[in-house]
Amino acid sequence: MLTLGLEGTAHTTSASILDEKQIYSMVSRTYKPEKGGINPREAANFHFENVVDVIHTAIKESGFSENDIEMVGFSKGPGLPPSLKITAVAARAMALKLHIPIVGVNHPLGHIEIGRRETGANDPVMLYVSGGNTQIIAHKNGRYRVFGETLDIGIGNMLDKIARDMGFPFPGGPEIERMALNGSRLLDLPYSVNGMDCSFSGIYTAAKNLLKKGESENDVSFSIQEISFSMLVETLERALYTSGKNEILLAGGVARNSRLKEMISRMADDLEIRVFETPEKYCMDNGAMIGQAAILTYNNFGSQKIEDTAIDQMYRIDEVNTPWVSEMNI
Ligand code: ATP
Ligand code: FE2
Repeated sequence: MLTLGLEGTAHTTSASILDEKQIYSMVSRTYKPEKGGINPREAANFHFENVVDVIHTAIKESGFSENDIEMVGFSKGPGLPPSLKITAVAARAMALKLHIPIVGVNHPLGHIEIGRRETGANDPVMLYVSGGNTQIIAHKNGRYRVFGETLDIGIGNMLDKIARDMGFPFPGGPEIERMALNGSRLLDLPYSVNGMDCSFSGIYTAAKNLLKKGESENDVSFSIQEISFSMLVETLERALYTSGKNEILLAGGVARNSRLKEMISRMADDLEIRVFETPEKYCMDNGAMIGQAAILTYNNFGSQKIEDTAIDQMYRIDEVNTPWVSEMNI
């Protein structure tokens, strides 16, 4: 089923042409705020200005023509409503123009399904760590369930905020990673784990105070990574025990961090658990992940009516039935 996958939940406008066999093209553009955090209205304007060209370029680069496309999938939520609306309207316009089915999908579902497709993981516990999201997800009784999550801000958001205070532009995660390599003193930051949930805003506030007191940016970066990544490892390990799964899938922009990957590998080696890393180009938000989730959804449930393609800013992965996943260990 040749599919146009369209992503636009936050700051990335991305389109991909793919089917069950191959990903033929993927074109992404990312809005970068000049200063401060993401401004929802500016982000929506960015999607508006880019979405048509991104779709056209993805079609052109795929080698197919517009009329070859058989289905359009788009990110229905969760995300920023102004961005979601532009994406949904673009997807509806394509479906109506080409007289093809349309499927709105859950954004985190896209992360896990592109990860399974590209790595061969079958029934993993996914650690999804991005700007806005920090979740531990695994399949149980016909749906993906959120085993643990952040109780306040996403870990990427915390890294971006502290990096911004140090004067670095978005995205800040790679800058913190770079500076942490030159840090060595473990400073006092709140380790905040509750069962399988974490919170990160206390780390941000404490790190900001340490910077004000004159602690070095390298040591602060080092400490933030050591503390917050240890929290992720602890909660991930608990989710592995609870779910009985023996695979880990890493997804989301923060999963590109080498120190995080090293800490997870060490834990997984001890437990004889396989770690699958979503390839870097599919780690960040992209149209291929949305297309893949749409293909699976369409093959199981068929098309959605245009009137059922409203956005859902609070759409949770555990609202989605996923009969295509065969669970291994339960
Ligand atoms: P969401 O998936 O929640 O919609 P998003 O679009 O912000 O959010 P991604 O595109 O998956 O998420 O990831 C962006 C985040 O990843 C940013 O917060 C960025 O700082 C972080 N990031 C990217 N590379 C690294 C790295 N090497 N180390 C730590 N964080 C990183
Ligand atoms: Fe994402």
